[in-house]
Amino acid sequence: MTVRINPSILAADFANFERELGRIATADLVHVDIMDNHFVPNLTFGPAMTERLQELSTIPLDVHLMVDDPDRWAPGYAELGAYSVTFHAEAAADAVTLARRLRDIGSRAGIALKPDTPVEPYLDLLQEFDQVLVMTVEPGFGGQSFISATMPKLAALREAVTRTGLDVWLQVDGGITETTIAIAAEAGADTFVAGSSVFRGEPADQIRALRTAAQSHTHAH
Ligand code: DX5
Ligand code: ZN
Repeated sequence: MTVRINPSILAADFANFERELGRIATADLVHVDIMDNHFVPNLTFGPAMTERLQELSTIPLDVHLMVDDPDRWAPGYAELGAYSVTFHAEAAADAVTLARRLRDIGSRAGIALKPDTPVEPYLDLLQEFDQVLVMTVEPGFGGQSFISATMPKLAALREAVTRTGLDVWLQVDGGITETTIAIAAEAGADTFVAGSSVFRGEPADQIRALRTAAQSHTHAH
């Protein structure tokens, strides 16, 4: 099974995006955290900045929208060319209609679940999504600790994906290090967001180490 390492640009130097993107060129996708100071108590950037990242990046964009009213905002990110657009289940008025719209525009459609949001309602809807993001921290800030109590959700998702044979990526985001990536891979994740653990060292080395750790803990599924 393919393992994907998606560094979060939230942990990069905002004054040097071009250079920072160059440092993560060996990663699979660049994770872009959009926060609106309503859905989460933090504010990052919006479509104009994301459009510039899209122009500069040599790897595809993995947009994570932590915003209220994604039904209104998410399509714009698909329109600017983001490869993947993930919105929160807790914020969407009509998740299935929104996911279909994102796919129609040409993006992969992802749905994200906060740590306390149950996965069961989505297990029968997997055909509507290209990615399920299981948050392993409360969304809003980088640098928090991994919540291992979220792992049973991944196991349930992996079982459902294997049973249905659908091509749905299972992503984890928050507190991913060389240690916790093994736990998440073991539980069934295949797509790993890492912010501080990538940018606090030499990103190419960190990406390689994370990839090796994830691969060696991935089951055949
Ligand atoms: C948190 C964001 C994450 C964050 C991860 O709300 O969604 O993508 O950047 O950062 P680390 O890897 O430092 O936990
Ligand atoms: Zn994120």
